[in-house]
Amino acid sequence: MATATYSFTRGVDYPSIVATSEKVAWTVEEIFRDRSFDATKNIIPDSWVRTQHLTFLNEEEQRALNHLRAFSYVHLFGDYEEFIPIHLTELAQQDWHGERAHLRALLRFGEEETKHQQLFRRAEAVLEASYGYACGRYFDKDRLAAFTQATLAYPPLARALILLALEWGSQRHYVDSVRSRTGDSNDPLYVDLLKYHWIEENQHTKTGVLEIAQLACKQSPEMLSAAFDDIQGIGGLVDETFVGQVEQELKTFQSVTGRILTESESTALREALCRSMRAIWAEVSLTHPNFKQVAVELSREGAAKLGIG
Ligand SMILES: [Fe+2]
Ligand SMILES: [Fe+2]
Repeated sequence: MATATYSFTRGVDYPSIVATSEKVAWTVEEIFRDRSFDATKNIIPDSWVRTQHLTFLNEEEQRALNHLRAFSYVHLFGDYEEFIPIHLTELAQQDWHGERAHLRALLRFGEEETKHQQLFRRAEAVLEASYGYACGRYFDKDRLAAFTQATLAYPPLARALILLALEWGSQRHYVDSVRSRTGDSNDPLYVDLLKYHWIEENQHTKTGVLEIAQLACKQSPEMLSAAFDDIQGIGGLVDETFVGQVEQELKTFQSVTGRILTESESTALREALCRSMRAIWAEVSLTHPNFKQVAVELSREGAAKLGIG
């Protein structure tokens, strides 16, 4: 089998992915039940917000930013996952009558992502109910459709790679939230949400590497290198959503705190929020050691375009 030529697929196979996926499956209701978030405390790690150096903000304002970023994370993640079931169905169609476990792995993966969207939508609603106010959303139906179509316009290998990076990023989000969970920070329900999401993403990374190996083994070194230009292209689309959601955070922040920021304060806050948005999504994902290994093995030249070497 051609996939055996890549070391990153070693020990990974579809039947065990399906078996684990069946064993660890959860429902959104099991996670939430009647639980809510504790809005008197921080919800997520400070490292997801990175505004602590802005001394013009008081403690209450810093907490509001923490709450807004907790909302932005679930809002963006739910919408980023919209393209995945379509992407996977396209992959499944290439070999619909092939190995049953392969087909089941792809279809379960797609179904789980649809469930994750339900998880994130529920989290949006419960966060707002816990805060007692509505949070600004970058994505509406039209923006979501446009973003999804633009992502799907890229070739399957680039899509599969960016998806893999995002999934390994979600592992780091969970691990960081547990590691920095002390007294007053990181809400237990939010940590559960990250945990259960990662439990299923863990299988997706395995299916992901197998799919990547199958797509990559048919491509020339030039095409493999070009896939990394496409990753940067998709990265540009994602970056627009960071900037758009930060504007929403700023708007909600000013309306719920009543704080009128001066022009220089507003610029400094916008910059800090954009920086942390890029750090928690792009940097965390693209610098994950497992992703780096896959990237380098596929194309040293391509990986270098992402600063991986
Ligand atoms: Fe997911
Ligand atoms: Fe996933």
